[in-house]
Amino acid sequence: MAEVRLSEVNKVYEGRGQQVHAVRDLDLVVEDGEFVSIVGPSGCGKSTTLRMIVGLEKATSGQILFNGDMVNDLDPQERNVAMAFENYALYPNFSAEENIGFPLEARGVPKQERRRRVHELAGLLQIENILHQHPNTLSGGQKQRVSLARALIREPAAFILDEVLGHVDGHLRFQMLFDLKRLHQSLDSTMIFVTHDQMEAIALSDRIAVLHQGRLVQSGTRDELYDTPATRFVADFIGEPPTNFFDVRFVEEDGEGMLRADDIALRPTAETAARLRSRDDRRYVVGIRPQNLLCTPRAGTISFDATIDIHEYLGERSILTLRRGGLSFQALASAEGSWAADEPITLYYRPEDIMVFDAESEALIA
Ligand SMILES: Nc1ncnc2c1ncn2[C@@H]1O[C@H](COP(=O)(O)OP(=O)(O)O)[C@@H](O)[C@H]1O
Ligand SMILES: [Mg+2]
Repeated sequence: MAEVRLSEVNKVYEGRGQQVHAVRDLDLVVEDGEFVSIVGPSGCGKSTTLRMIVGLEKATSGQILFNGDMVNDLDPQERNVAMAFENYALYPNFSAEENIGFPLEARGVPKQERRRRVHELAGLLQIENILHQHPNTLSGGQKQRVSLARALIREPAAFILDEVLGHVDGHLRFQMLFDLKRLHQSLDSTMIFVTHDQMEAIALSDRIAVLHQGRLVQSGTRDELYDTPATRFVADFIGEPPTNFFDVRFVEEDGEGMLRADDIALRPTAETAARLRSRDDRRYVVGIRPQNLLCTPRAGTISFDATIDIHEYLGERSILTLRRGGLSFQALASAEGSWAADEPITLYYRPEDIMVFDAESEALIA
């Protein structure tokens, strides 16, 4: 297994007189044995990044290094990176066992050794009982596992998964997430997992890298991204339900610095107010997570009144959609409360849970 490092990598696709700058100045390190997820909306450059690591696409500039050695000019076979796609592409005339063992057979690994390695991985993926079956007799989840086993059997330098859970839903998706996590723990492999679904990334990774329009916006643990998102985009992308945002002005009201939208004024911490006072800007975007809008007071909370619009039950919690004047926003509440549309409600927040972003650059200020 290997450390994978991208250094100032760019990818520009040329075609029909048009250029697409798909990946911009990307610096990313995935340490040996680390599980990193690359997340971002469709079209942000995730697959392009993976294809450059695997060698299916050439970087326009920058360096791709495995354990410090530049691999830009190596073809995919020489890089020995395994990639699993959403489509499993199994050989229909081979049994699951033959499918999994095929990469070893192609390399001339003796039958005994092949058998041992196939059974080891099949054990990990809990597919030993279906090894004799052909792909057309397998369920989607079983095929996905056979395909994972086939990708892993080469003991690749790194293992790369591009939206592999795209067509898998519900219970099976949960099971596959669990399998991937367990595989990573038992194989100690370097894994790079791409998804547009932040929940998958959070469930699996040591670290999450957020791409937006071809750029790396932030990489960090789930808690780092959740607690200190570098930009409004990250605050919006990480966390469920999404963060509430308000366009505000920083104003002095009764001697206190307040962040005022038309129909609501939120109080930042004294430290944040001091920081904002020292800046020329007066316009900001405030973010507050639904988890941080509380229905009961706690130490140090500040309250404001709103009206309930919609109440959705989510098992042990509820999502409340609320309004105040022309503003609409969401709060998470316990499921026990009795919430009815058009009823008044008092909400509580802690000033330290207010995130302030620059209105232009959208970077986090405080
Ligand atoms: N072979 C290609 N030729 C031209 N443009 C491409 C090609 N592949 C991807 N793109 C463009 O590059 C950008 C990033 O695509 P991609 O890496 O597939 O994003 P993602 O996997 O995050 O959805 C998109 O604008 C896409 O249309
Ligand atoms: Mg993609």
